[in-house]
Amino acid sequence: MAEEKRIPIFGANWKAGKEKTNITSRFIKEYFSISAWRGEPFHVALQTVGKNVEVFIAPSFTSISDIIQKTGILKKPGIKINIAAQDIYFEDNGPYTSTVTGPMLKDKAVKYVIVGHSERRYEFGDTNEDVAKKAVAVHRNNMLPIICVGENLHERENGKLYDIVEEQICSVFNELRLRGHPTVDNVIAYEPLWAIGIGETATPQQAQEMHQYIKEILATKFNKNVADSARIMYGGSVTPSNIADLMAQQDIDGALVGGASLNPRYFFEIVKGGTEAYYSK
Ligand code: PGA
Repeated sequence: MAEEKRIPIFGANWKAGKEKTNITSRFIKEYFSISAWRGEPFHVALQTVGKNVEVFIAPSFTSISDIIQKTGILKKPGIKINIAAQDIYFEDNGPYTSTVTGPMLKDKAVKYVIVGHSERRYEFGDTNEDVAKKAVAVHRNNMLPIICVGENLHERENGKLYDIVEEQICSVFNELRLRGHPTVDNVIAYEPLWAIGIGETATPQQAQEMHQYIKEILATKFNKNVADSARIMYGGSVTPSNIADLMAQQDIDGALVGGASLNPRYFFEIVKGGTEAYYSK
């Protein structure tokens, strides 16, 4: 690869968790203190990856402070585990009861914010316009968006997948450009809806085809630099057993992991196996 290698990126999207109570304390214990599964906790095991890699955890809003304070993860040496928020409101302040805004997240030392996750788009009605405004709010508050895109099964079966993803990408990047925010160095997550949370992952070829298409859109509608500097994660039923084949694809730079990230051992294996596959291509 002639161009400088992009740093691979892996994210644990804990969503709303699985259990009724004590999600945060359970995860804090399992990720940062229990050593049974490998002789060392997640953040220590992570240091054995030995390559340049970025890792983030996206807990619920209410757990962000606890995770940072109780684990001290932002201050630990070596490969850092950053904190991502699962969503944001696009205004910074005002009469918007219930919302979590950019300044609130920035204040908590959040680095990344997931915008346009399919569960937000389909369960809560986030439109392309909302997602674009959220991506702007993230940049305005000096954080970085993880811009999620992806088609549903109906759209794929009807051959609409490329149009849908193109519209999702262009609405965000046009808005970033219009508002004077960087269109380079952004992180995108391609998450086909039909592969999320059901154990049916896209084949490495299906994922690669869409990642390549996203690069082409960015190069033709914006410029080569926007395309070359974008990192594109794949998301949708990623596991320790399918990560290597996915990461071996030319345009796959990382993974956004839901279900498997609830188990620190699986998430560690995904980061390690994925990083090795990435640097061997
Ligand atoms: P999954 O979720 O890994 O459970 O499919 C991925 C996501 O929704 O980000």
